[in-house]
Amino acid sequence: MPDKEAVAASRLLVVGDVMLDRYWFGAVDRISPEAPVPVVRISREEERLGGAANVALNAKMLGAQVTLLTVVGADEAAGRLRGLLERQGVRTLLGEDARLQTIVKLRIIGRSQQLLRADFESEPVNEVLAQMTGDFERALPDHDVVLFSDYGKGGLTHIARMIELARAAGKPVLVDPKGSDFQRYAGADVITPNRAELSQVVGAWRDERDLHARAQALRMKLGIGALLLTRSEQGMSLFDAGEPLHVPAQAREVFDVTGAGDTVIAAVAVLLAAGMTLREAMPLANRAGGLVVGRFGTASVSYEELLQ
Ligand SMILES: Nc1ncnc2c1ncn2[C@@H]1O[C@H](COP(=O)(O)OP(=O)(O)OP(=O)(O)O)[C@@H](O)[C@H]1O
Ligand SMILES: [Mg+2]
Repeated sequence: MPDKEAVAASRLLVVGDVMLDRYWFGAVDRISPEAPVPVVRISREEERLGGAANVALNAKMLGAQVTLLTVVGADEAAGRLRGLLERQGVRTLLGEDARLQTIVKLRIIGRSQQLLRADFESEPVNEVLAQMTGDFERALPDHDVVLFSDYGKGGLTHIARMIELARAAGKPVLVDPKGSDFQRYAGADVITPNRAELSQVVGAWRDERDLHARAQALRMKLGIGALLLTRSEQGMSLFDAGEPLHVPAQAREVFDVTGAGDTVIAAVAVLLAAGMTLREAMPLANRAGGLVVGRFGTASVSYEELLQ
């Protein structure tokens, strides 16, 4: 584990799709006279950073310096995101797209049970995204590691160009991928798909040997340094130029698996920026993932917790 000073000195640039996770809690006393649905009297609201903003928060909680570059709308949710990020000490480079609806995932919870989730979202326009590429290029010199958090919402349209710029500047690039086109991640140092994300691209594997072959073929095709497969209750596997490395999941109670992938890539990025190798960082990131699945909602881990 790198010392706290090394972590505090590391500077991370997080780029990707952000969202606001909103929870409305209340009591259910009756069924609506208008339709056969419960009526929830809302008594409490909670808001959390989601997507790339949660990745940024996770890196910040570990003690790193973090900048989040993303595009938001000109709406109430963007203001809430800005406020939450500011309070957490995450620096922001926010492109504003007046036609974009900032992504909000609203959960209505009555009697401790999720009754409904309502998603608000739209795709960002190209001009604002192109402008963000300029901001990205200017921000690069002040950062040690670049992390792309792709949630498939359109914010990373120019990722191929951004990876090129980061590589030219000599900055390690990590990507949490999404979707069926991984060609756009070509040249990245590390990609961290989960099982579903990888199988969507290389197909289902029959056994570990087959997985190894498929992972290596993909790695070669894309010119990627390492593929770190997160495997939920099976821990994670690393495929790089050496022998594959497997780390089992920490046996523990699982409350909520949401956001474990965010925690993992944030931890890897921070530890790399602080001077560790990927092989050294991997078991620690796995531990961090194991810790957050024991918590409600998207959660994060501190430096001290990871050190224990
Ligand atoms: N059920 C589980 N039991 C133990 N550890 C888990 C479990 N689920 C996740 N983890 C830990 O978290 C890591 C990342 O989890 P996972 O592979 O599910 O990521 P993910 O699907 O990208 O998550 P998300 O997209 O919700 O953030 C795993 O490699 C493991 O260390
Ligand atoms: Mg994930």
